Parts: sequence; structure tokens; C-alpha cells
Amino acid sequence: MSQAHQVQPAELLKVSGLQMRFGGLLAVDGIDFDVRRDEVFAIIGPNGAGKTTVFNCVGGFYRPTAGEVTLDGHSIARLPSHQVARRGLVRTFQNIRLFRQLTVVENLLVAQHLQVRAGLLHGLFATPAYRRAERAALERAAVWLERMGLRDVANREAGTLSYGHQRRLEIARCMITNPRLLMLDEPAAGLNPQEKVVLSQLIDQLRREFNISVLLIEHDMSLVMGVSDRILVMEHGRPIVVGKPAEVRNDPRVIKAYLGED
Ligand SMILES: Nc1ncnc2c1ncn2[C@@H]1O[C@H](COP(=O)(O)OP(=O)(O)O)[C@@H](O)[C@H]1O
Ligand SMILES: [Mg+2]
Repeated sequence: MSQAHQVQPAELLKVSGLQMRFGGLLAVDGIDFDVRRDEVFAIIGPNGAGKTTVFNCVGGFYRPTAGEVTLDGHSIARLPSHQVARRGLVRTFQNIRLFRQLTVVENLLVAQHLQVRAGLLHGLFATPAYRRAERAALERAAVWLERMGLRDVANREAGTLSYGHQRRLEIARCMITNPRLLMLDEPAAGLNPQEKVVLSQLIDQLRREFNISVLLIEHDMSLVMGVSDRILVMEHGRPIVVGKPAEVRNDPRVIKAYLGED
């Protein structure tokens, strides 16, 4: 069968039998789920449940000790993170990771693989092709600065921004690469109630406008319940239940897992 006639799988991301062992600790074990096209899929569970470890395995930061991860039907489980990113799967971090000494706009240029602050040499030797790429990258950065409400802080060092602005810059840095799957690790952590409302509207708008899927880890229940199509609940590295928000919310096993948390 020729490539053109192959039917795309319904799910964009498929995770099966995922296991991650750290020495004697099974941080993740027997995790199966899929993320469909244009879906917001959330992973919730008490602290230490293994949620971030799932992200690290899916994103190529850890090599899972067992299991398979496919994106559009192609295995990505043993690819390094930069190759996973090139296939359209990008993430934010639970502990924000930005280039703190670079400005906001420079962070967005680096995300597009442009060298910044190369100085005089760059000015002397830049080719016309490089200058064109640089102009296009600056234009894209301007679009995302505007979109994310970061225009007024464009020339500030990223490390000096408020927490809410840093979170938005991280998302902008992901979106500027044209992803297919955006993974957000506790994006509402440290945000005030008003910023959380803005964040959930943003997640909703991005998935509609750019036809992306979103894989979300989040502790804020009202945000998760409002923005997700389906939710996987984990505890001690294992799955408890997968379902729609209303199903998950009323599941006695989920309530028990959360009541058991300190
Ligand atoms: N790199 C690592 N080395 C050893 N243990 C780890 C590592 N990363 C996570 N863990 C352990 O795996 C378990 C799950 O952690 P994590 O995935 O961060 O949970 P969550 O994100 O759900 O809070 C925890 O017990 C944690 O201490
Ligand atoms: Mg975590």
C-alpha cells in the first residue's frame, strides 16, 4: 500500500505497558493510554504517583525500562528528547526551565534554533539566507509575544519575570515550534485564581486554533475537570481509572486515593 493511502491511526500518541524502574523503585508500571487528535488528556494523582516520570519517558528524557510509545504510529520510546521534539512533541517543566539570562524574545529565537548574541562575527558573516531566517523567526516571535501578552516584557531577562509570565513564556516557546502534541507539567502551579482562569482559556484556544493535542499533568482539580476530555488517574506508579471528568470525579477509588494524601 502506498503511503498516501495509509489511514492515520485515530490516536496521535499511544503508550502501552510503560514501565520505569529506578533501582528498586518501580516509579511507573503498567501504564497504558492514548491521546487522540485534538484531545486534551490529563494525568492526575497524588504526589509521587509517577506522572512526571511518564512525561520524561514519553518525551525522550528517560528510556523506559519496558513498554512502547508511538507518535502517529511510529515508535519514539528510545529516541532522545531533541528528536522527539522534532517530530512535534514538546513540553513544559514542573520546575520552569528557561534561559534565565536571555531576554524573552531571545528565548523565543533559541526555540527556533537561532543563535542569539553571536555579536560582531555573526554581523559580518551572516549569509542572506541566515538573515531571512532571522527575520522570519523575529516575526514569529512577535506574533507569539502578542498572543501570550508578553510584548511589554519582550526585552526583559526571562529570570526577572513574574511567575505567571514565565509560565506563559514556556508555553510560547513550545508553541512557536508548531507542535502536534503539547505536554504541560503542572502549568497552574504557583498561579493565582485569575491566572488559572486565563490559563484554562488559553489551553482551550490553542487546541482549537492549532489542532494540537494536549497532555496535561495538573493538581488544580477545577482546571483539570474544566479543560480535559479524558483523565487518567495514577497512584503509586499504577493506573487506577481512565474516563471522562464526570466519571473520574465520582469514582470511589479516586476519592480514596486523594483522601489518603497528606
Ligand atoms: N530520576 C529519578 N531517580 C530516582 N527516583 C526518581 C526519579 N524521578 C522520579 N523518581 C521517583 O519516582 C516516583 C515518582 O515521581 P514523579 O514521577 O516525579 O511523581 P509525580 O510527578 O506524580 O509527583 C517518586 O517516588 C520519585 O521519588
Ligand atoms: Mg510531577
